[in-house]
Amino acid sequence: MPYVDAVVTGAGGFIGGHLTRALLAEGKSVRAVDRKPLTEWYQQHAGAQNLVRDVSVLDACEETVHGGVGEVYHLAADMGGMGFIENNKAACMLSVLSSTHMLMASRDAGVGRYFYASSACVYAADKQTEAAVLPLREEDAYPAMPEDGYGWEKLFSERMARHFREDYGLATRTARYHNIYGPHGTWDGGREKAPAAACRKVAIAALTGGDAIEIWGDGEQVRSFTYIDDCVAGTLRLTRSGAVEPLNIGSDQSVTINELYAAVEQIAGVRLGRRHVPGALGVRGRNSDNTRVVKELEWAPSTSLLQGLEPTYRWIHAQVKAALDGTGPRR
Ligand code: NAD
Ligand code: GDD
Repeated sequence: MPYVDAVVTGAGGFIGGHLTRALLAEGKSVRAVDRKPLTEWYQQHAGAQNLVRDVSVLDACEETVHGGVGEVYHLAADMGGMGFIENNKAACMLSVLSSTHMLMASRDAGVGRYFYASSACVYAADKQTEAAVLPLREEDAYPAMPEDGYGWEKLFSERMARHFREDYGLATRTARYHNIYGPHGTWDGGREKAPAAACRKVAIAALTGGDAIEIWGDGEQVRSFTYIDDCVAGTLRLTRSGAVEPLNIGSDQSVTINELYAAVEQIAGVRLGRRHVPGALGVRGRNSDNTRVVKELEWAPSTSLLQGLEPTYRWIHAQVKAALDGTGPRR
């Protein structure tokens, strides 16, 4: 295969689809790779070379980076929101195969830069037990006690990327994403995260005359939510920077889950009753400390929750409407 400027794994998913578009807009040649059939890709960009490959297999990784690659963005992973990762720990940990094989193939092919998509789920549980949480600094990942399953895989793969840099000279960069949301993401089916779930529930109520929605837990859990445009901008900036240690890419605007639902209701122009039900809760409080990312990249996410939820709600409302009308795919 010919040289390409960038490879994106997981390109059929949420962040990968947006990142591929941004790279193409820069005029880069892009090889977009995902194991899903092309018909299931969230976005498919005609300007990219779109390949269906399973990058848990070493041969497929070697093919993916064959011919020379400037930048590899390794986003492929079996993941989802709390409802998925709490109940699919083995599947989440199996992503270690793609993380490891992509590193090996990238080292052997001499790729220029290697980006790894890690997660705020690497942070130690004992630093996230209160809703009034102190924002998480990069050093708070240690002593290690990450999210069971998914978080351990991410922390291990971060360290693997670091050792490939130290031992083999592969120029790795790692981001710890904090709950990314936006249009063209997963909005139902069990892998969706809280922002998409809130948009879907409010849209269904708005379209069907419902008067109440369900929220997992008491809704006083705290998170920060990062808009996709900020995620993509931070990813490109970090990959091309000299920042070799993992950096948070996350909003530092923390809200309770009840406030998240209220923000979606405000955008939709409805007020709904709430039923608090049991669900996968995860940590009690999580927020991003952006001191280091500002220092290293002279950048931090800047989209407010309301600004980001507007287009997200509009897009999910359209998907829900199409599904209810029987004119669009549900996913
Ligand atoms: P996503 O589920 O929308 O996309 C991931 C894609 O990877 C899917 O299309 C899936 O088919 C593909 N994939 C999985 N295993 C594969 C394999 N073996 N070979 C080829 N393709 C494979 O997820 P996303 O939200 O776009 O997340 C992208 C990355 O960012 C993941 O590594 C994820 O763990 C990380 N991350 C995301 C968030 C978030 O809030 N979205 C937060 C922290 C970290
Ligand atoms: N998913 C979801 N769906 N969460 C809900 C819902 C709902 O309908 N209602 C309330 N919640 C609550 C969850 O119980 C949890 O306390 C909080 O909203 C946030 O849930 P998620 O958005 O699913 O996940 P998270 O923030 O705990 O973790 C996510 O972000 C990490 C990075 O910050 C996950 O997607 C991880 O995979 C990701 O790495």
